[in-house]
Formats: sequence, structure tokens, C-alpha cells
Amino acid sequence: MNHANEKRQAAQAALHYVENDAIVGVGTGSTVRFFIDALAGLKSSIQGTVSSSEQSTALLKQHGIPVLDLNAVGPLSLYVDGADACDRNKCLVKGGGGALTREKILVEAASNFVCIIDSSKQVDILGGFPVPIEVIPMARSLVAREVVKRGGQPVWRDDVVTDNGNWIIDVHNWRINDPLALEQQLNQIPGIVTVGLFARCRPSVVLVGAQRF
Ligand code: A5P
Repeated sequence: MNHANEKRQAAQAALHYVENDAIVGVGTGSTVRFFIDALAGLKSSIQGTVSSSEQSTALLKQHGIPVLDLNAVGPLSLYVDGADACDRNKCLVKGGGGALTREKILVEAASNFVCIIDSSKQVDILGGFPVPIEVIPMARSLVAREVVKRGGQPVWRDDVVTDNGNWIIDVHNWRINDPLALEQQLNQIPGIVTVGLFARCRPSVVLVGAQRF
């Protein structure tokens, strides 16, 4: 089974979690692209969506699916998004597409987070896929030094400005034994907007192609 097929299957399976009249939080990435295509078939039975990126907003609008402002809606019943890596405890690395901040906000806003991935994303230990960190631009070097102190190798994604006007550092060569502790530690550093470790708020379900865990 190739990865595109698994992504499509996971996206299709996520439709089962979409309730009538729901406002659905929508993530970002190539797997979510399949989800948006599939969601278009249900657009008359949902109120609309809240989007995690300009990229997803454009796709949703192309399909005629309403995109609402998070501030104008209450808590979300469902958030659907992909991931760059997923361990056995459903801890994730996210932000390969640079949308980690709005993604984390929507995870927090939703009572149910359904993660859709292909099997290449399943790992024993996080850190193989570089961990993105969104930073306030003036804090880039400071954050990089803090990352080095903690054993990571920071690389500035120097061709990217996020939807929030910030920059991204990708941290390579981290062997992450305790994702929750590292996420919490990094959250204390001034200048870090969002850490691409999703350990504190995890998906309730992960759909891997046609499988669920
Ligand atoms: C976007 O910022 C990321 O968090 C995506 O969720 C992640 O990169 C998964 O993308 P794909 O579905 O394209 O692999």
C-alpha cells in the first residue's frame, strides 16, 4: 500500500467522526487535503469549519465549505489533522508544514482530536523527524542556544515566515525519551511561541490508513 492510499483511507475514515451540524477544526498538510476533499461531500450537513492555516482555508473555500473564526464559535467537538511522527503513546511531532501554532490552538479548542496518518509516520521514539519550534524572530538565536544546551541541533528554516509572522527552527538529532517533559521545559523559554511536540494534548484516536489505534 503506498502512502497516498493510506492517507486517503485515513482521511475517509475520519468522516465517521463528523457529526451533523458540527463545526469541524481542520488541520494542514497532504493528508488533510484528502480530508478536505472528502468533507466537501458533507458540507450541507455541517455548520462549517475552523482552519489551522491559510493553505487549508484556501482549499476549504475552493470547495465552498464555510470557514469560521475561532473567536466567533464555541468549543469545537472535533479537530482532524495529520502528523509528522507518532509514537506508541500517541505523542506527536507536528509542524513540518509550518502551521503548528494554529494547529495546537485548535487541538486545545476541540474535545476530540482525530489524527490521520500513513504508516510511515509511526515511530518507536520521537526525534527522527526534526522537531519544529515557532519563535518570535528576535529570539531565534537565544532559542537556538537553549536547544543546543538540551542536546538538539537547531536549523533555521530561513525561507519560511509562518502565518503568524514568526520564524521556525527545526531541531535535529534529538532522541526524545520523555516528550511531555521536553514540551513543558521548552514552553518556559521566552521567545518560543509553539513547540511542535504534541504530548500534553494528544489525539483520542489515530487513524493509520484503514487501521485505528
Ligand atoms: C503541518 O504543520 C503539520 O503539522 C502537518 O500536520 C504534518 O506535517 C503532516 O503533513 P502530511 O499530512 O503532509 O504528512
